[in-house]
Amino acid sequence: MRKTRPATRRRTARKGGPTRSMLAAMTALAREARERARAPYSRFKVGAALKTRTGEIVTGCNIENASYGLTMCAERVAVFKAVSEGLSDFDVVTVVADAKRLAPPCGPCRQILWEFCGDVLVHMDNLRGERVTRRLAELLPLPFDRNNL
Ligand code: THU
Repeated sequence: MRKTRPATRRRTARKGGPTRSMLAAMTALAREARERARAPYSRFKVGAALKTRTGEIVTGCNIENASYGLTMCAERVAVFKAVSEGLSDFDVVTVVADAKRLAPPCGPCRQILWEFCGDVLVHMDNLRGERVTRRLAELLPLPFDRNNL
């Protein structure tokens, strides 16, 4: 017999964190965004979804350029889209790639996420059912930010 759902909504990380259904919804949006990736050079498509505490979700995908260094990662596209729309107070970012290893945000993306989102939850998913959630502070210990200026 199937177990009945617990009365309280199950949450990941800790109390006050996103619900499993919220993370699933964000992952679904990141997957859709990933389909829009422009990655003809690496063929490595990435999707991201960034959420505000009030529930708005903004997506991003990686956008490559023949001048490789101009490539923009999915996470930064999501952050810049959201900031340019006037959004702030982010609490979760989801990153989706199709790889054996889960794709954590690259170094520059960690720095940008820290600048605009602070210590957000970073949820990684690889389309194969593997997923992991970390706080950004774990991925970017000893960050450089305005407190250092
Ligand atoms: N990429 C992302 O979009 N996010 C990351 O955090 C890591 C890398 C993209 C950049 C490039 O288009 C492709 O993945 C391969 O590096």
